[in-house]
Amino acid sequence: MRVFVTGASGWIGSAAVDELQAGGHAVTGLARSDAAAAALQAKGVLVRRGDLDDLDSIRFGAANADAVVHLANKHDFSNPAVSNAAERAAVQTIGDALAGSNRPFLFAAGVAGLTQGRPSAETDVSPFNGPDSPRGGAENLAFEFADRGVRVVSLRFAPTVHATGDHGFISVIAAIARQRGVSGYPADGTNRWAAVHRSDAARLIALGLAKAASDDGAAGLTLHAVAEEGIASRQIAEAIGRTFDLPVASIDPTDVADHFGWIGTFFGLEMSATSTATQQLLGWQPTGPTLIEDLAAGAYSVRTPATA
Ligand SMILES: NC(=O)c1ccc[n+]([C@@H]2O[C@H](COP(=O)([O-])OP(=O)(O)OC[C@H]3O[C@@H](n4cnc5c(N)ncnc54)[C@H](OP(=O)(O)O)[C@@H]3O)[C@@H](O)[C@H]2O)c1
Repeated sequence: MRVFVTGASGWIGSAAVDELQAGGHAVTGLARSDAAAAALQAKGVLVRRGDLDDLDSIRFGAANADAVVHLANKHDFSNPAVSNAAERAAVQTIGDALAGSNRPFLFAAGVAGLTQGRPSAETDVSPFNGPDSPRGGAENLAFEFADRGVRVVSLRFAPTVHATGDHGFISVIAAIARQRGVSGYPADGTNRWAAVHRSDAARLIALGLAKAASDDGAAGLTLHAVAEEGIASRQIAEAIGRTFDLPVASIDPTDVADHFGWIGTFFGLEMSATSTATQQLLGWQPTGPTLIEDLAAGAYSVRTPATA
């Protein structure tokens, strides 16, 4: 298939592109910079230049592909309204471009806020609706296109898609531990985060595309890119402490925002999730290292994220 990938140069996107190419797909990637375009071209990806604000470019890319995998995100965590609006606009644009075509549309989502007091499952419907909600309510917006002839697939990633080179949440938390000289965890550290290795997440995307494209592909599918149901924030902090030889301490809830900055809100969230249904549906079995194994192996020892 000709697959249009937004965020093709990103952490998950670049691994997904490799997986799609290995599966024989011809990938076109959206690139907003010369550097991203060059990196994509170097591995044989066709480049469509454009930005998330350039909806004409996204529309053209989607309309001229057999399937779309949307992974780009502005990730403006200090001003989430900006990212949310862009996410909603991109989903609306891609959905409109694919309407009536029966083509697959896979897009990134998360597991935060889906349930209270238990791990989320694929059957849990997102409570987020409308432009002012997290991720701009894009998951529910996308599923509206399932009734308009689009094979919609929500890729709900665990809050950490980990591996060596990750610049996501765990990398930021590790950088804060090094800056502060203490590896902190919020409150009693019992809240849990689901996790998945980047290689497993990339494989899941390719399998999800194949499922959506197949004759029995469901019109609306929710997949959980989750290998580990939940790792307590205290365990994460302890593993970071061992990695960098730092003391480990509870951070009082009243000090969490000051200690961790913007990521404090996320680190204190319960974000556990299961993937039983996804594994059964796709025959997907995560095989990558666990988060704690990656931390112990030094996956977070090198890179200092610019966002920390
Ligand atoms: N990583 C995780 O742990 C995780 C967990 C849950 C959900 N997710 C979601 O999964 C998706 C992919 O995440 P990721 O970790 O791969 O993110 P990432 O590494 O930050 O990559 C983001 C991608 O979006 C592109 N991008 C950013 N701003 C753009 C703009 N204005 N116009 C066009 N492209 C733009 C980036 O291009 P450049 O290369 O030019 O910067 C990059 O290709 C996102 O929606 C994210 O929220 C990720």
